[in-house]
Amino acid sequence: MKILFIGDVVGSPGREMVKEYLPRLKEKYRPTVTILNGENAAAGKGITETIYRNFLEWGAQAITMGNHTWDKKEIFDFIDEAKYLIRPANFPDNNPGKGIIYLNVNDLKVAVINMQGRTFLPAIEDPFTTIDNLIQEAKKHTNIIFVDFHGEATSEKQAFGWYIDGKVSAVVGTHTHTQTADERILPDGTAYITDVGMTGPYDGILGVEREAVLKRFLTSLPVRFEITKKGRKQLNAVLVSIDSKTGKAVDIERILINDDHPFFA
Ligand SMILES: [Fe+2]
Ligand SMILES: [Fe+2]
Repeated sequence: MKILFIGDVVGSPGREMVKEYLPRLKEKYRPTVTILNGENAAAGKGITETIYRNFLEWGAQAITMGNHTWDKKEIFDFIDEAKYLIRPANFPDNNPGKGIIYLNVNDLKVAVINMQGRTFLPAIEDPFTTIDNLIQEAKKHTNIIFVDFHGEATSEKQAFGWYIDGKVSAVVGTHTHTQTADERILPDGTAYITDVGMTGPYDGILGVEREAVLKRFLTSLPVRFEITKKGRKQLNAVLVSIDSKTGKAVDIERILINDDHPFFA
């Protein structure tokens, strides 16, 4: 079975890319399940109920989040009913929402888990002990376990990958908005990439208007970050192939669509 995972979808340019390319990616790669990270989907920060529903309509089966989970306040009104939306599992216990879901597809059960790192990000629960407990729980239902690890530091993401090698089918990084070229199958059968990258503006800085980011660097003055709405767009994703019996990954392929890497059906 194959899992297509699309990296952080940023604002309307990112949503347009998902709408345009997800059907074409499905036709080309025939994924069993499609997951995307939606933490930046609403104007760069958070997600709304309409956008969540659009993602499902356009063909995603699960939406993961990250440090921007709570940025759009309306999420508190719908997260408990949003069956296919998960936020990092190591947020404090009293937070709304959940960090794991089970998807049933073609007689298979897939566990999808969202985690968040703690290096250069808010201090939350320890992701390493949290994942131990979640894997134990998930293994009662399925061998196919997919993890989105939302983290800033490459070291923490690599450490996390090695920590759960052989215990999950895949652990893919999100949050930095820049795709890394280190995709691999770790020795015990876990697919790994430090960061899947970002789906949204191609000529901004991590999706944000360049002028504002440059002003911040040049002056250290507070500036308002806006998403680059005009101009070229990109989509970043990975396709993970998994042996459905063992839950071990057999392949991970990076997908990069932009003007420099056009999509061929
Ligand atoms: Fe992000
Ligand atoms: Fe993030």
